[in-house]
Order: sequence, then structure tokens, then C-alpha cells
Amino acid sequence: MDIIKLFDKPLSPEKSIQLNNKYWPFLKFTNLNLIQDCELEILSGSRKGGACYRNLMKLFPNEELFRKMLKRLGKILSFQSNFGCAVLDYRVNIAPLNLKNHEGDEKYFWQFISKNILFKEISCEVIKRYRLEYGWDITRLHKSVRYVRGEDGYQSCMTNFGRTSDFHNDEYKGITCIVYLSDVKKDNGAFTYIQGSEKIIRSPLLTAIHQTVSFDMKLSHWDQMGSLPLEFRATHNIGNFLEPDKAKALLAKEVVLEDVAGTVFMFNGQKLIHRGGKPLKGSRLAAFLTPEGLFIHKLRSFLATKRY
Ligand SMILES: [Fe+2]
Repeated sequence: MDIIKLFDKPLSPEKSIQLNNKYWPFLKFTNLNLIQDCELEILSGSRKGGACYRNLMKLFPNEELFRKMLKRLGKILSFQSNFGCAVLDYRVNIAPLNLKNHEGDEKYFWQFISKNILFKEISCEVIKRYRLEYGWDITRLHKSVRYVRGEDGYQSCMTNFGRTSDFHNDEYKGITCIVYLSDVKKDNGAFTYIQGSEKIIRSPLLTAIHQTVSFDMKLSHWDQMGSLPLEFRATHNIGNFLEPDKAKALLAKEVVLEDVAGTVFMFNGQKLIHRGGKPLKGSRLAAFLTPEGLFIHKLRSFLATKRY
């Protein structure tokens, strides 16, 4: 099944991964024409807004949230990439890692990885990929190590909304590189993704609206969304809202990156639908490298959000 063909009309409920009414089957989408008109106006480069914007604004609880949504839209349109996921050829030797005596000591683990002879090469690869996708910039690499255990209670968020629970897209642009520092299987937080999902056509306007629902309105559960138009009732956690047939189609392309400690991979969290790092049992230790453009991208971001 070709998920790119299956979901090729982001503003038609049957062909969209962004429009779902699993929780409200008695309701109909009534604002799709308005959203489509606004999106066409935005994508055509028109900045007039006009009646279309005014009508869209009325669907938001207040004008401030509408403005926040437009800022997000500016960023989304400025930073697009169709990169998905790639496992690198590097394999970090973790034999000297003293896992037992340093359980939970993220500082120790970070020192371990940064001393590794491959670290510089991996960092260069990640920055290279970032620049390939988003253009050249002076780039800083954010580094962290995360240690998570099944006891921390991830069971509910991994299962509450069916088999696609917690599958999501990240908030902004970005390439993330992960180095597994422990062996990782499905049950202890393996990175899992939907192969090809980075190429599924999305509505940038719906993406911005759903990010606003998540991060500005801070709504996460469907039963908090009764006062919003049906088109707005979703978050960046796309898997929590998918209708069963759509979930089934995506899960047919599910890849669980079970691998040994030392495995290095990178992915595009903005477009690749993914989840991971929440063990149901056992624990997962992994290092994260995330590049950030410091100058040109900040300027682009500023201009993009100012524009709307
Ligand atoms: Fe993520």
C-alpha cells in the first residue's frame, strides 16, 4: 500500500492524515472550504489576508492565538525538508562504558560519548545533513544524554489511543541524531517510525493550527477539545487521533529500530512520523545531537514570522 497516494489530499477527510473524527463520528467538517481558501491565498504569496483571514480568526478562541498560529505557519513554510531517517555506518564502541556503576548519571555518559573518537565525525555528518536540508548557517550542536526507565510510567501514553499512540511530529524544523548507548528493543523504547511518512503531503495551515492547539492552547486530550471546530481537534501527536483504517495503513509501514548499543541514526522529526524513548519495561540510554542554525536561520525565522 502506497501511503503517499493514499493520503494525497490533506484537506479531504478520507485522504488526509490530519483530518480525523474518530472521537466525534456524529460531527461533520464544516470549515474546509474556508481553510482551503486561506491556504491558497497564503501559498500564492498574497499577504492581504482579507475576509478569508478574518473568518478564520473567528474560529480561534481569541486573536492572540490566531496570531501565534500565523507565526508558526511562517516558520513551517520557511523550513521544509523531506528527509526521513538514515542509519549511519558508524558504530560507537561502548565497551568501556560503565553502565552499572553510573546508572542515571547523564553527565558521565555525556563525557563518555564526547571523548569517543567517532564523535567529531558523527557531529560533522549531522551538521552536514542539517545544512543540506535547510541551507548553510553557523551551526551549534545541542548535546544531551537521556536515561529513561519503564518504571517512569509510560504505559498509558504508549497505549491509551490504540496502536498508533504517541506517534507524532516534532514542533519545529530539525534533524536529530541519536546514538543508542544501550541495546534497544521494542519494549525498552526503540525509535519507531512510519517509513515514507515524511513524504505524505500535509496542509501547512492545519499543521500550524494543530501545533497551536498543542503548544499554545496546551490541549492534549480529545475530551478537552469540545469547543473547537472539528478541523482544529488534533495535536502534533497525530497517532492519538487517527481513524482506525488510517492507523492500519500507516502501521503497515512501521519500522522499529531495534539495534545494539553504539548504533547511530538521524531523522527529521518535523516530517517523519515517529515515537520512541518511552520504555514499557527495562530502560533506554541514548545520546542526542541536534543542530541549530544560529544566524541565517534565526533571521529567516524572524522574517517569516513577521510576514504574517
Ligand atoms: Fe519526537
